[in-house]
Parts: sequence; C-alpha cells; structure tokens
Amino acid sequence: MRSALHAALLSSLVAAAQGASANLPTIGNFPHQCEKLVSKLKIENATVWFSNYVAAGTNVSFPDLDPTCAHAPITLSVDFCRVALYVATSKRSGISMEAWLPNNWSGRFLSTGNGGLNGCISYDDMAYATELGFSTVGANNGHNGTSGKPFLNSPEVVTDFAWRSVHTNVVVGKQITEDFYHKKHSKSYYLGCSTGGRQGFKSAQSFPDDFDGIVAGAPAVDFNNLNSWSGHFYLLTGNVGSPTYVTPAQWNAVHADIMAQCDGIDGYVDGIIEDPSLCQYRPESLICPPGTAAGNSTCLTGTQAATVRAIFSDLYGENGKLVYPRMQPGSELVGAPAIYYGGRPFQYSSDWFQYVVYNNPAWDPTTLGPADYARSDTLNAADIRTWSGDLSAARNRGTKILHYHGLQDQIISSDNSPRYYNHVAQTMNLPPSALDDFYRFFRISGMAHCAGGPGATFIGNRRAGTASLDPDQNVLTAVVRWVEEGKAPDSILGTAFVGGVAGGKVDFRRRHCKYPLRNTYVGKGDPKDPNSWKCVV
Ligand SMILES: *[C@@H]1O[C@H](CO)[C@@H](O)[C@H](O)[C@H]1NC(C)=O
Ligand SMILES: *[C@@H]1O[C@H](CO)[C@@H](O)[C@H](O)[C@H]1NC(C)=O
Ligand SMILES: *[C@@H]1O[C@H](CO)[C@@H](O)[C@H](O)[C@H]1NC(C)=O
Ligand SMILES: *[C@@H]1O[C@H](CO)[C@@H](O)[C@H](O)[C@H]1NC(C)=O
Ligand SMILES: *[C@@H]1O[C@H](CO)[C@@H](O)[C@H](O)[C@H]1NC(C)=O
Repeated sequence: MRSALHAALLSSLVAAAQGASANLPTIGNFPHQCEKLVSKLKIENATVWFSNYVAAGTNVSFPDLDPTCAHAPITLSVDFCRVALYVATSKRSGISMEAWLPNNWSGRFLSTGNGGLNGCISYDDMAYATELGFSTVGANNGHNGTSGKPFLNSPEVVTDFAWRSVHTNVVVGKQITEDFYHKKHSKSYYLGCSTGGRQGFKSAQSFPDDFDGIVAGAPAVDFNNLNSWSGHFYLLTGNVGSPTYVTPAQWNAVHADIMAQCDGIDGYVDGIIEDPSLCQYRPESLICPPGTAAGNSTCLTGTQAATVRAIFSDLYGENGKLVYPRMQPGSELVGAPAIYYGGRPFQYSSDWFQYVVYNNPAWDPTTLGPADYARSDTLNAADIRTWSGDLSAARNRGTKILHYHGLQDQIISSDNSPRYYNHVAQTMNLPPSALDDFYRFFRISGMAHCAGGPGATFIGNRRAGTASLDPDQNVLTAVVRWVEEGKAPDSILGTAFVGGVAGGKVDFRRRHCKYPLRNTYVGKGDPKDPNSWKCVV
C-alpha cells in the first residue's frame, strides 16, 4: 500500500527536482561510486562502517539496532547510496549516523531528528526525504535505545542528546554530501516532531547556520519543565483504584462531556475542537447525582472531578511560577488516559530525574514536587531547555521556520506551542505580521501527537501522513517553496482518509490556520469542504 498514489506523487516531485537541478552533475556508475565511497571518505573523528548501493524496490533492513529501536524493513521507490558511520563527539561519547544519498539528487540536504528520550534513527523520515530527492541524514542522538539509562553520570551523552548529535550530524552530513556528489548542497532543511521538534528549535536558536528551512512539529521545548509536567500526572491520579484515580471508562465519559461543552464553539459538532484555547472545561457537571450506584462509570466523584480539573489546569511550582501549561482538552480518546493517567509514573520523566537531574536510579518518582521542578530547570543539563525567544540570528540569515502542533496531542500539550510563539513575539518585540516573514505556526485540529487522530491530519509531516506533495497540503514541500521561491504558507490543507490510511477514500479536507487565526465553520455548506470554513481573528 505504499501505493500507486505515492508513486504518482513521487514522480511529480522528482520531475520538479530534476527541473530545478538541471545542471547538477550526474553520478556515472552510481552503484560503483557508492560502494567506493566508504574508502574515500575522510571525516575527522569518524569511522565509516559501510557505503552500500540500494536499488529501488529492495528491502533496507536494520539488524543491529537496540531492540527498543527495532524497525521493520523499508522499501524505497528510488535508488540511493546508504552510508553508515560512527562519529566521536568527545572522549566519552559519539553518534551513530547514516546518510542516504539518492541517485536523482535534487541538490537539497535534509536532517531528521529523534523522539522521546531516544536513541533511535528516524528511518521513516529518512526514507520520506530520500524519496523526495534530498540527501538525508539521521543520527541516534548519542545513545542507543529509548531508555534514559545511558545518561547516568554521562554528561557528554546528555550533551549529544541536547544538541550535539543533530549539529554534528549536519556538519558531517553536508561534508559527505559534497564528497559524494562533488558539489555543495543548494539548500539545507530539517524535519522533526516531538523531541525532533525541539531539536529543530534548538538549531534555530543556537545553530542558525545549519538550516535554511525548518519543519518543527509538536516541539518538546521548555524541555526540563515538560518532564516535570509529564511526571506530575501520577501524583494527581495516584495508583489504580485510589479515590483520585479516574478509570478509562470514566475518561470516555469525560471526553463526551468535553465535546458536549466545547465541540460546538467552532460552529460545527464533529468531534474536533478547532481551538482548544477556547475550551475551559468544567468537570463538575459530571459528578454523580445522589443515589447513583457505586461503580457507575458515566459519572465522577467530587474527588475525581478535582483530579480532572487539575489535569486541565496549568501547573505552577515554587513561588507561584508557571511550570507548564495544562493538558489541552480533547486528547482523552487518543491515548492520554493510558499514557499519563494510568496510575503509574511516566517513564521519560522518571528517567530524566533519575539519570540526569539526580544521577540516582533509586530516586523515587512518587516524590516528585515543586522543589524537583525547580532543581531540574535550574540545572538545565547541557542547556537542553530550548526556550530562547530570540530567533533573530536565524531570521537575519533568511531561515524559514514552519511550526505545527496537533490540537489533540496526548503527550505534549499543544497549549505550549502558542506559549512559545508568544514568547518569541515578546522577546523579539514583533507582532504576528512581522514574525510571518520567518516564523509561522499552524495549529492542526484533530491531530494527536505528531500523527493520528480524527482530524485532517495528513499534512506531509511524515511519510505515512502524506496525501499530497502540493505545497499547499504538505509542510515539507511548503517550507521548500517558502525558502526557494519566497512563497510562504498561509494555511495547510490537511486530508482525512476513511480508516485513516493514506491512499484510501478521502473523508474530508480542512484548512489549518496560521496562529493566531482560528478555524471556524461559516454556518452553511458541506462541513467536509474546506471552503465551508474560514480562518478568523
Ligand atoms: C521485505 O520485507 C518484508 C517485510 O519484512 C518481507 O515481507 C519481504 O519478504 C521482504 N522482501 C524481500 C525481497 O526480501
Ligand atoms: C549503537 O548501535 C550501533 C549499531 O546499530 C553500534 O555501532 C554503536 O556502537 C552503538 N552505540 C553505543 C553508544 O552503544
Ligand atoms: C532518475 O531520473 C531519470 C529521468 O527521469 C530516470 O530516467 C531515471 O530512471 C531515474 N533514476 C533513478 C535511479 O531513479
Ligand atoms: C574531533 O574530536 C576532538 C576531541 O574530542 C574535538 O576537539 C574536535 O573538535 C573534533 N573534530 C570535529 C570536526 O568534530
Ligand atoms: C449512572 O449514573 C447516571 C447518572 O449520572 C445515570 O443516568 C445512569 O442510569 C447510571 N447508569 C447505571 C448503569 O447505573
């Protein structure tokens, strides 16, 4: 099902790339040049493992990965050269990285990012960009696997995770690209979501020369505080069965009640809240009436309503300081109850405190509180915070930043993205009309964490989430057009497929608005038609 649709899309982009790159040198005997590359590359601090020619249609497999990074074989529709290497980043650390160099190179370079606390090369993103003609790199973020254990007493490994893996990957990747094609890349791009979104903003904030165009999704910015917030839910719910704990069945009732209170605010009831910032959910309406039988899962006790209200309230720490915004209402059906409200500590948060903040695997996540939030953010290991509001260096060199966030994100509250956007506006003293020149933020209604959800979530942010390569419908080609033709995106037209699988029957399309505009049903016309909706102030 990597389908006829995708093949058709690709041939159009490859044709466009070839048009744009008519004077690129062609690589004669591409397979041979590729196999030779391993012995020709001279990269400081690096050991090149292999350079293998991969013909279109063959399986790329990943036998040596840490089991927590396990990945099924991928088949690409283009020929490429697969290079793998290890680059030492200090005496005690290094990155494993790959460069995928397509035969029909567009002249463009692209770096991918990572997710969570991993540790795993984003091979799907590499495949996506390679098929689109980018010379593409990915790295393991300085350690293997999804656990935070490798950070224990290893500040160099934390530094790789915070910024050095991506930056090294880019410096080395650009060199490999030039060595292979005998020509410098034309433009440099970044694509990532979650931790990958944070890495994109870290680059914009601290390594502005790395990229001309950045697509940063659901960014884990304000990273220390994010880990405090993601750990605090367990303190609110307590263990399964405790009076404060809310059952999965009750969460279904809460979701229905949220929709009853908020789904119509955008003018149309469809299970999708276009602007959760307008939803101030009141869980007390769900408190069971007197005489309700015990165990009734359609209503809450007063104590449980307090838990739900706390989950949907901003988190404050010592001296009344905002730690992190609330969970946005709407994510209850796409996993938040299992991930955060399941009556157990959240792994990434526990790992961060145990292996980085306290360097003490015995630290007890059930004791997390305001003093720990403050300690973590003050320590700010390897400057991982990623909250600088000053993007002027990136702006001044012409970098374009496309930021998006799904509004049903069950892992990183989408309320944090407007908070960052507004922080940039305040820091740079710029209104949206001026930020528009280099930084645009799109709120993707009905999208869960980086993917999935009931909305029009196919926006080209990942290979399996691509309905079209048309820059009006694809965040990656949109940023390319912005950088190379100066045509900035005003909205992103998303697609929802019946059954959620690309290439199937289109259910509906909807335009996702540029912040601070919000999407509203105009009151007449087919709600599945994007033109029945309007981005309004
Ligand atoms: C490629 O990988 C898939 C999935 O593991 C497998 O089903 C298929 O047989 C493989 N094809 C070849 C040619 O090895
Ligand atoms: C990570 O795994 C790769 C193989 O995929 C291996 O070459 C590398 O040494 C490992 N790195 C660490 C830090 O263990
Ligand atoms: C590259 O593009 C050319 C021209 O469209 C085509 O003939 C060729 O098959 C392509 N090569 C690969 C390896 O995809
Ligand atoms: C190579 O490693 C040394 C020692 O860690 C470091 O000082 C130097 O900057 C590295 N070179 C590159 C190009 O990263
Ligand atoms: C559960 O409580 C609600 C009132 O909140 C009531 O309408 C419903 O009938 C009860 N369901 C069961 C199965 O007792």
